[in-house]
Amino acid sequence: MSCPGDLPPPSDADLVARAATAKAALGDRVFILGHHYQRDEVIAFADVTGDSFKLAQQAAAHPEAEYIVFCGVHFMAESADILTADTQHVVLPDMAAGCSMADMAAASQVDDCWRRLESAGVADVTVPLTYMNSTAAIKAFTGRHGGTVCTSSNAKRAMQWGFEQGEKILFLPDQHLGRNTAVLDLDLRLDDCVLYDPHKPGGGLTDDQLRDARVILWRGHCSVHGRFTVDSVAEVRERIPGVTVMVHPECQHEVVTAADRVGSTEQIIAAVEAAESGTSWALGTELNLVRRLALAHPDKQVAFLDRAVCYCSTMNRIDLPHLVWALEHLVEGQVVNRITVDSDTAHWARVALERMLALPGTPAAPASHD
Ligand code: 13P
Ligand code: SF4
Repeated sequence: MSCPGDLPPPSDADLVARAATAKAALGDRVFILGHHYQRDEVIAFADVTGDSFKLAQQAAAHPEAEYIVFCGVHFMAESADILTADTQHVVLPDMAAGCSMADMAAASQVDDCWRRLESAGVADVTVPLTYMNSTAAIKAFTGRHGGTVCTSSNAKRAMQWGFEQGEKILFLPDQHLGRNTAVLDLDLRLDDCVLYDPHKPGGGLTDDQLRDARVILWRGHCSVHGRFTVDSVAEVRERIPGVTVMVHPECQHEVVTAADRVGSTEQIIAAVEAAESGTSWALGTELNLVRRLALAHPDKQVAFLDRAVCYCSTMNRIDLPHLVWALEHLVEGQVVNRITVDSDTAHWARVALERMLALPGTPAAPASHD
């Protein structure tokens, strides 16, 4: 079911009350997860907010909840389904909340890529790592081939682990996170990385290039973070003297290099929270989060790195009408927009996700209610 005609209109003045009533009626049977990039109107009803890593942990840490309502995007809800019991139902309030980056690596393309690595004689020494922002099928692929999943919070640890298991990494689907981690965290050189283009014959790489590479990057990117530019960094430094520029590692390598700091969503939040009053920040990440941080820290100047970049349109699909629609159906005993992953895919994706959750240095699941 996507969104039938009974979706309340955004103009309905009772939406907040309706959401509160439905949530109260469900009580502990529902647990609402809210990604940091969600709208304020949705975050207001989240039992816990977090980045994709924390939300995956939180989904796994709530076996008592019959319904996990995932306010985020499709791949995150799939991971929640994989990490929760079969008796729990994961609901995505709007099925159109996908992720353009996750869609850049289709399972058949990744299978073709692996055959290409086999023909070049390097598959046996290659460990696949996939960013959380990938479909369950891609996570299952990494599980089957001895690899793991990472998020922007633990990409360094995951890549170090990968190099303990093999000689090369195939990093999917975000070329920028892969390159930034390899070069900035593991001190590899830019030319240790090659770019595999699934739209070119053989990935656009020769056997020699594949044999010489340490990291084979998939040609995928985030359509939001990929839009920040080196010019936007220079412009904000002129506009706000003394500003600290902090960007997400999904940004292009040149942008990350031009910035002062790089960090995952949780690390950006922690940096602003820890900053002294009177300091100025320009943040290169999703706009809902930046706006909320600016409002939460009136004693600091928190600016958006580039005013021409806008919200993540798929994260923004989840709004109050969709949340009310999903919750009220659950109250009536009707599970709408359930996200399910078939058992074989779920098994191998779980293998990959559990390897990630067991990576050395991984923090335990934090307390549930923010
Ligand atoms: P986090 O891993 O920081 O939650 O990021 C998820 C995401 O979609 C970033 O664009
Ligand atoms: Fe996907 Fe980028 Fe949106 Fe994150 S911000 S969900 S990576 S499109």
